[in-house]
Amino acid sequence: MLTKINHIGIAVQSLESALPFYRDNLNMPLAGIGEVPEQKVRVAMLQVGESMIELLEPTSEDSPVARFIEKNGAGIHHIAYEVNDIEAAITKVIADGGKMIDERPRSGAHGTRIAFIHPKSSFGVLTELCQAGH
Ligand code: CO
Repeated sequence: MLTKINHIGIAVQSLESALPFYRDNLNMPLAGIGEVPEQKVRVAMLQVGESMIELLEPTSEDSPVARFIEKNGAGIHHIAYEVNDIEAAITKVIADGGKMIDERPRSGAHGTRIAFIHPKSSFGVLTELCQAGH
């Protein structure tokens, strides 16, 4: 069902201050920067082999990522697993008693379709299912 770790999401106060470390110091190629207005975040994707690091900067005080940083400080926010068939993956999680935040896929960055599993079902780790865009 899961094919790889697509990305790890990291909440940061500011892309401008976080990017130089990841891009220049750790030398990760920048795969793209975009905004996800529904989530009130700006997102920078950096390539690490066949996985990515997703830096998440809140664009508003009431962004879920802003609330996360307020509560926990900057740091790891979620893990995203790649799936080939996101509807089938959601159906299986629910059938096996897991709780989804998103029972239907929604649009993520770069044409992906994503759905979050509730961290109560995944032992405290906010978990994203992610189907690549084609
Ligand atoms: Co993500």
